[in-house]
Amino acid sequence: MTSAARSGPVMCIVGARPNFMKMAPILRALAGHVPPLPALLVHTGQHYDASMSDKLFADLALPKPDINLEVGSGSHAVQTAEVMKRFEPALDDHKPACVLVVGDVNSTLACTLVAVKKGMPVVHVEAGLRSYDRKMPEEINRVLTDQLADRLYTTERSALANLLREGVAAERVCFAGNVMIDSLLSNREKAHSAAATLQAHGIDPAMLKHPRGYGVVTLHRPSNVDDADTLSSILTELAHTAEQLPLVFALHPRTRNNIDRFGLNHLLSPATMAILPPQGYLEMVGLMSSATLVLTDSGGLQEETTALGVPCLTLRDNTERPITVEQGTNTMVGRDVLAIRRCVADILAGRGKTGRVPEFWDGHAAERIAADLYTWLQTGAT
Ligand code: UD1
Repeated sequence: MTSAARSGPVMCIVGARPNFMKMAPILRALAGHVPPLPALLVHTGQHYDASMSDKLFADLALPKPDINLEVGSGSHAVQTAEVMKRFEPALDDHKPACVLVVGDVNSTLACTLVAVKKGMPVVHVEAGLRSYDRKMPEEINRVLTDQLADRLYTTERSALANLLREGVAAERVCFAGNVMIDSLLSNREKAHSAAATLQAHGIDPAMLKHPRGYGVVTLHRPSNVDDADTLSSILTELAHTAEQLPLVFALHPRTRNNIDRFGLNHLLSPATMAILPPQGYLEMVGLMSSATLVLTDSGGLQEETTALGVPCLTLRDNTERPITVEQGTNTMVGRDVLAIRRCVADILAGRGKTGRVPEFWDGHAAERIAADLYTWLQTGAT
């Protein structure tokens, strides 16, 4: 016996910056599917500053959210609980066909928990990634969301093995590819030049004309920026790198606050480093595309640099995106000063990783998701 098709909109959840570039192509693919899949966009408000949210909505041509839960910042418990409390009545009011979550932020898990307890099917995009580091809040969010989700879309084949190990049935999993790369490919032409980005912040773009080019830095992981000694030693090493290659450093609010709080501003040298506030999407894509190297602890940048063929040094001990190391341009350097120096020297000598673009990182992942989701909802989402 086949179950009845599920009707109602797909309730799409975003909360924090890395969700926005994943959701934009999904919304377009749902609307472009024949027949269209109606969608409702919910912003939990986990990220709320104009630079962390509104600017990215504009850059990515995301529609204004239908619902904004305006939860704001807080401890993990407070933030997760607040999303849950505010999301429940929205779910009751709108009776969607399913809830679609992306990535691994607190909003992803919070909305998943609320939905499954109401018997609402949950779809997780970017499922099955594992760092096997339970100290990362995102790892907890990933493991729990995948346990609870009904339909799971993966970005790389290794994710299926992770899910099977945790007892997730293979029938629930669909390898769709990387929606973040859909966004990258569709926006690359519109990206702002690095020079224009520096100029917009009153910084002379002449520093980008260094014979070796320039590097891009982003840092925001609590494990790198919440402890004064750790942050101080990373910034000291970055200052050393900047003597060989000018660095453009886009500062996340968490990092900005901690540099101020710990009194570390003297480690940011304006002669060799362009210090910028959090950047918009088109600015970031432009900065990365023409960079000699990227130094980061972000998950998204590891993937974007692999797709762009730009060498990436990841200041972490592990990655949940192993394909970026195995096939792409990523190297894990942790906080090992010697490893960082060796890798920087190799890249500056033209011996950086070039890599190749992984399977299904082709700009069509969201279309594959829309097609599969349509069939799955037609057959009763079971
Ligand atoms: C969150 C995600 C992380 C993601 C990152 C991208 C979780 C557990 N973490 O981390 O996976 O890589 O987003 O940015 O969900 N703040 C502002 N303005 C804002 C938002 C935050 O100033 O618009 C400041 C606040 O001081 C806040 C701090 O940043 O306390 C941290 O924000 P939060 O959302 O808790 O986590 P992120 O570090 O941004």
